[in-house]
Amino acid sequence: MKYRIVEQTRPGGLLERVYREVLVPAFPANELESEASVAETLEIGTGSLFVAVDEAGRPTGAAFGRWSEASRVQMLTYLAVKPGMRGYGLGGRLLREAIEAWSGRHRPCAVVAEIESPEARAVHEAYGDPRRRLQFYEQAGARVLDLPYFQPGIGGPEHRVQGMLLLVLHADPAFTPESPDRLYGRPLHAFMDAYLVSSEGARANDWDAKALFRAIDRPGGIPMGPWESKRR
Ligand SMILES: CC(C)(COP(=O)(O)OP(=O)(O)OC[C@H]1O[C@@H](n2cnc3c(N)ncnc32)[C@H](O)[C@@H]1OP(=O)(O)O)[C@@H](O)C(=O)NCCC(=O)NCCS
Repeated sequence: MKYRIVEQTRPGGLLERVYREVLVPAFPANELESEASVAETLEIGTGSLFVAVDEAGRPTGAAFGRWSEASRVQMLTYLAVKPGMRGYGLGGRLLREAIEAWSGRHRPCAVVAEIESPEARAVHEAYGDPRRRLQFYEQAGARVLDLPYFQPGIGGPEHRVQGMLLLVLHADPAFTPESPDRLYGRPLHAFMDAYLVSSEGARANDWDAKALFRAIDRPGGIPMGPWESKRR
């Protein structure tokens, strides 16, 4: 079976099928925003949806990302391949094509993604194996930011997901000024501030958020590297 990858930057099209057939089976409910919220992002022009479609036009995998003009950070919000089709190279193709397109289009400071830590409590077989998922991203060149990261709560801080990692998939060398292994914190601070407000509905000022911003703002930038090096 041959697959082609198409991009849509407007709501409608394949979105409904992608949401129902690819995203819902791949993510726990507390990590997946509503279809309306994905559609709204596409409507306002900051979203981008890459879809792998088979010869019959069926969506088999997808990558959805959001561009933040204010912080110049591109987020890969969701990447998933249908369970029976994992391990055949489609996820890697989607990831490469999306990063290449976003990097060329926006010249972002960084392209980031959040994933579950391999040390977090296993969620469910259907959502994939967190260790293999991290391996998948590291093979694609991702580096783990040394941060006490949590996913902002969809609908409020009480819905935050702890035990998450923030990955850098691409960084503009201008934002790794001290060394290639440290990311300058300012764009990420602006990005997280806006992300917390849009997800949780208010500015975060609690202990966890303060610890996260302290780590983002540390002098010399945020260390980033392979996951194994962070555990020593
Ligand atoms: C992570 C994911 C997108 C990878 O897509 P894919 O098409 O299977 O990946 P590729 O075939 O290009 O690459 C293979 C690698 O993906 C990873 N992978 C494959 N199946 C996997 C699974 N069930 N769970 C987690 N990672 C898996 C492995 O690292 C694998 O390498 P290996 O064969 O050497 O172990 C896909 O497994 C998936 O949809 N997982 C569930 C959703 C998810 O975790 N999304 C990422 C968070 S945004």
